[in-house]
Amino acid sequence: MYDVANSFFKAKNTYYSNAIVQIDMRKILLSEINQHYNNILELGSNRGEFSKMIASKIKFNNFYCVDINDFSNDYDKRFTFIKQDLNDFKINKFNNIKFDLITSNACFQWLDLKKIITNLNIISDKKSNLIFSTFGVNNLWQIKEHFGVGLKYLSISDIEQILKPHYQNIKIFEKDYELNFSSSIELFRHLKLSGVNAFSGVFLGKNDLKIFNDKYHNTLNYHAIFVSASNLF
Ligand SMILES: C[S@@+](CC[C@H](N)C(=O)[O-])C[C@H]1O[C@@H](n2cnc3c(N)ncnc32)[C@H](O)[C@@H]1O
Repeated sequence: MYDVANSFFKAKNTYYSNAIVQIDMRKILLSEINQHYNNILELGSNRGEFSKMIASKIKFNNFYCVDINDFSNDYDKRFTFIKQDLNDFKINKFNNIKFDLITSNACFQWLDLKKIITNLNIISDKKSNLIFSTFGVNNLWQIKEHFGVGLKYLSISDIEQILKPHYQNIKIFEKDYELNFSSSIELFRHLKLSGVNAFSGVFLGKNDLKIFNDKYHNTLNYHAIFVSASNLF
């Protein structure tokens, strides 16, 4: 089991400059957010970089941000920050607010999507949009192939099946990112500094570095999935 909270907290000062893919994903997700909302909820908001992008683009009344780590000092008074583990969802944290936009960038891969969708239904407004990104089955395939470790990612069709009972106008698209590093040491440094701790507990030896150089040519692929849907009411 990865220590998600710990790896993101450790990477909090280096995440911004190393999370190249997640930063591009924010821009794509933002292009899906085009109307004004009353109550916005962002899940896995980290230090609020995406939250601030949304807040400068559209008007809103309330903006709640949730993360398992305490990043409250990074948020100004436009936002209400809640520290909470989304695997242990507590409705009473949201002051009976019904959200008309629920969004999340690069976080749902850590969560049980089916469970989170059921919980989100309770705090969704009658007319509500769900706009999120996550990672797909080919994500970091080199790490999975070599070390045999990685998250259990959902396919596009899995995601669609989970959303269908609750959402309509479901739009799903994907993007593949190929990152090339100057050495395998740089490749593993990138993973560590961006908080991806997929191989925590795996001993990284000289032979692994050589294989990543010779077989994978110091390349890593990220597989991003983007979803935009509206409530079925
Ligand atoms: C890859 S980062 C993405 C951060 C941010 N959304 C962005 O655009 O850069 C994933 C975030 O999800 C948070 N996270 C992971 N598991 C979580 C959980 N169970 N409950 C709440 N937050 C979680 C991490 O602490 C981290 O801030």
